[in-house]
Formats: sequence, structure tokens, C-alpha cells
Amino acid sequence: MARHDPHSYADTEHPQVQSLRWKARVDFATRTLEAEAALTFAVPGGGPLHLDTRDLTIHTVTALDGKPLAFQLSPADPILGARLAIQLPPRTAGVRVRYATSPGASALQWLAPEQTAGGEQPFLFSQCQAIHARSVVPLQDSPRVRITYEAELTVPARLRGLMAAAFVSRRQDGAVAVESWAMPQPVPPYLLAFAVGDLASREAGARSRVWAEPSVVDAAVWEFAGIDAFLAAGESLFGPYDWDRFDLLVMPPSFPYGGMENPRLTFLTPTLLAGDRSQVRVVAHELAHSWTGNLVTNASAEHFWLNEGWTRYAELRIVEATAGVETAALHAALCRRELDKAVARFVSEGRPELTRLRTHLEGVDPDDAFSEVPYDKGYLFLRAMEDSVGRPRFDAFVRAYIRAFRFGAITTEEFLAFTAKELPGTLEAIDAPTWIDGAGVPATAPVQRSALLEALDALGTAPLPRATAERFSPTEWQLYLDGLPRPTPVDTLRTLDDTWALTASGNHEVLVSWLLVALESGHDAVLPRAERLLAEVGRMKYLKPLYRALLGRPATRDVARKAFARNAPSYHPIARAVVQSMMDAAG
Ligand code: BES
Ligand code: ZN
Repeated sequence: MARHDPHSYADTEHPQVQSLRWKARVDFATRTLEAEAALTFAVPGGGPLHLDTRDLTIHTVTALDGKPLAFQLSPADPILGARLAIQLPPRTAGVRVRYATSPGASALQWLAPEQTAGGEQPFLFSQCQAIHARSVVPLQDSPRVRITYEAELTVPARLRGLMAAAFVSRRQDGAVAVESWAMPQPVPPYLLAFAVGDLASREAGARSRVWAEPSVVDAAVWEFAGIDAFLAAGESLFGPYDWDRFDLLVMPPSFPYGGMENPRLTFLTPTLLAGDRSQVRVVAHELAHSWTGNLVTNASAEHFWLNEGWTRYAELRIVEATAGVETAALHAALCRRELDKAVARFVSEGRPELTRLRTHLEGVDPDDAFSEVPYDKGYLFLRAMEDSVGRPRFDAFVRAYIRAFRFGAITTEEFLAFTAKELPGTLEAIDAPTWIDGAGVPATAPVQRSALLEALDALGTAPLPRATAERFSPTEWQLYLDGLPRPTPVDTLRTLDDTWALTASGNHEVLVSWLLVALESGHDAVLPRAERLLAEVGRMKYLKPLYRALLGRPATRDVARKAFARNAPSYHPIARAVVQSMMDAAG
């Protein structure tokens, strides 16, 4: 047996799936997909084949020529799901599985019309990273595997079905429409993605359209006006854009992430629509994944920093190229704060091993291990490399790295071997092992200074001068609020809110930083706003710290429990499970 990914039953000695033909009928009444997956192998083979599944009902398994095949579905493991073992006669070219998904499929959220902006049509979307594709399609759900696919989605005719793939055709057939899509570039299974809803689009750049519900699409086009500049910056830093289109889809508010780098169609939270273009670095980040993550992919969740650390680095380079070095420095400072908080939290929870870059996740759910560490410690590690060799050499290294591993998957060890060859002496110079296998952030980590940061630090805890705050960007507000002591006197907080209307902020980053310092200081006048946010938004970046703050004080623990009991049904299954485990840990 050769299993290389602790989160997949895929066996590298079995036939490897190379392409997928997927047909799925979307049924909003039963909240299921009735589906068929035809998997073709890279090389025909016989013997056992192990596929990953979660909560799938398997109807039939046959060879591609229709001959029935013997199969066995094992009892489900709570993290991995159930192994589908199929016995293949010699020289089998592929298998066809007819099956249905479950209404609780962990990748899928089925939204009632009330949960959308329009309020009249239902909505369905997928979120497959890290290991949820298996709840939608039976396959080898490991990022070491890459597949091309063709798909046919049958949807109610009044709705649009979109996939993170190339559009082929749409044909209406009575009450339903069949949407055909194709993904000609091989992608890891976690990048399979689709959405179905009342969706409209507008052109937003030379290679980009923005999709959203009709009432949202204009605001979205305005907010994301910088797409072409991001693409130009990305291509000049990292090489040609390999995915043809870079379209964006603004999701309903329950989308559990800020963004998801689904190829050709990045999914984004509507909380980015702040009306001030201050959150576009999430777009820069998802675009950057087109090189780091989607082209060069982490071989398993244990090497997640190769996806996210590299992408944070690339994101901040795009920000620097398009908005300047001061803006990039402010963002880097925010990231450093978040990193320090994440490290302190893992240490206090007795899980310091999750602060390493290279992790060991046998028996650990990647959704529970998720944190800022792979992003921001990974970023600092790459910055340390850059500082050590100088930017020109590092830029050449980045391009060589992408060229060497494009359309592949790599481990941390392979990354280190490549680096040792390309930049001899560098890993020793920065003491790479303490970064990779050590806990916490090395004391030698690069610290970025900037004039705006010095000015913010100089403010200390003295009252905030009006002339200063009037000029604050949303990022400076966030840095200021995050830097306030816990607790800050309630009188000080009340004055701040009276003067700057923070509770009414339309910028979710500023709002959440404000709610956190208020809740952590016992300024409970903000409770109704916090409760409303927990009811309306499903982005885990906000849910997790807000629930944590509420659970952290006996006086508000019950507010947290009641809010979760009320809102859990409207969260995406991933967010529901993650907040549930926070509730369980709080007792
Ligand atoms: N790929 C991630 C989102 C993700 C990570 C989904 C792990 C599932 C498992 C995406 O690129 C991301 O990092 N999004 C960030 C935004 C970014 C600016 C840091 C987010 O959602 O906040
Ligand atoms: Zn990312």
C-alpha cells in the first residue's frame, strides 16, 4: 500500500485518475445532486482502486463499457469519509459511478431564497478545499492528483449554473437548462467548483467578468476596478497567466472564506464590497494563487504553507506594485499581528506543533488546523530568503520555481532541495530548519518598517487626535484598533464610537476590529451589532474571533451559545463544524 496523503485513501500504486466526465442534476427540493462520474485512468489497469467519498449514496459502479464492477463502501471515518473500494479486471480503462450526494454534503451549501440578496431564488455553491470534493464526486481527493474534466450541470431553467472552468454551452430543455463546461488544464480535485443561482455579469477587465446576483453586480464591478493592473503585475512578476480567463463571482454572505482561488472563476465574499476599494488585496491574493497553488500545488495539507505562504508573498508583491510600498507595509504589519495572535493561541491551547511550517496532520482535520501560520510565517520565511539573496536574484528564483513545478504538486522537502540547488547557502544563512520544523516565529524574522507605521506606533494610548484619524485609511483604522490594550476603558471606547461611528462602519475589517476590542473590554453596547453580524455573515475570519471573544467572558458566553444555536442552520457546513468545535472546546 502506498498512501502519501494523510487525508486521502488514494493509493499511488493503483490506477491514477486522469480525467472526469461529470453529469449532475441539481435538485433544490431534495437538496441533492443526482450524478454520474466517469473516471478515466492515465494508464489502463487492474486490481483494486480506492476512491474518497463522503456521505455519497452509491447506486451503481461499472467499467466505462458498462460491465458491472464489484465494490465496497467502508464505514465512514469522521475526518476522511468513506473509502469506496472497487475491484478492476485487468486493463480497465476507467470506471463509471452513479450516485447521489447527501443534503448535508460538507462541500455544498443550499441556500433558501431569504439567504440571498434577491430574496426570490435559491442558491447553491461548492467549497471543496481542503478535503470536501469527495462529498460531491467520488475520486482520488488528494492534491497530488490532477485531472481535466468535462461537466454537465442540469439546473432549473430560471437559474444560471457556473463552473470554475471554460463555458461550452447552455441549452434549455423545458423547465431545466443543461450547462456544459470544460476544464482543459489539469487541476487538483479541491479546485472543482460550481455555483447555481440568479446570477448576472458585467465586463470588468480585458479577461474578466464579474458575476453576482443582479442587485450586487454594479457595486462589485466598481469595487474590483483594478483587476487588469493586478493581472499585469502578476504576469510581470511570475510569468504568463495560464488560465485564460480571470472571472470573479461574488457569493451570498454565508460564503465561509474571504476568497477561494477556483481557476478561471474566483469566489469572493460580499463583505469585500466596502464601497472604498480597501479590500481588493483579497482579489490580488486569489489571483496570485493562479501561479502559487493552482500551478504549483501543495502535495498535501501538511505542506499548505507552500500554497498560502507563497501566495501571501505574491499578494503583497502585487499590492506593492500597484498601490506602493507604504500600503504593502501596512498590510504586512496587519499580517504580522494576526500571526502573533495565532501563534499565541496555539501555544495556549497546547498545540504548538501547529505553528510549524511543515505540519504532521495524520488524524487532524485540515479545517481545524487552519490558521494564519502557513500564510504569514510562510511569508516571513520567503521574505527572509529574499532579504538574504537580494530581490533581483529572488525574483529570478521565483520564476524558476514556478517553471520547474508548474502543473505539479510538491512537498516541503522537494521545495528545500530545489532551493538548495538554485540558491546555494541560503537555507543555512537563514537557518531554514528553525522556520520549517520549529515552533513559533524565529527572532530573526524580517521586520518591515514604514513612515505610516512609525506614526501609528507613536500614537500610543493617548487620545486619538482628530486630524490624524480623519486621514486614516481603513487599514490604519484596523491597525490602530487592533493595537489598543485589552481591556481599554469603556469611556474611551464610547468616546471613540461617538466621534467615529465605528459600530456603523460599512467596512467589515474595521467593524470586526472594533467589535473585538469592544467585546474584549466589556463595552457591551456593541452586542446587538455583533449579534447581527453573526446572523448575517458566514465568513469564518469574522465568526471565529467574534465567537471566541464572546465565549471568553462569562458575561457573554450565553450570547455566543444562543447566537450559534440560532445561526448554525444558515452557516456553510464547514463554518458550522468549525464553530461547533470551538463551542465544544469552551465546554
Ligand atoms: N485558499 C484560501 C481559502 C481556503 C483555505 C479555503 C483553506 C479552504 C481551506 C484562499 O486563497 C484564502 O486564503 N482566502 C483568504 C483571503 C486572503 C486575502 C488571505 C480568506 O478567505 O480570508
Ligand atoms: Zn490563499
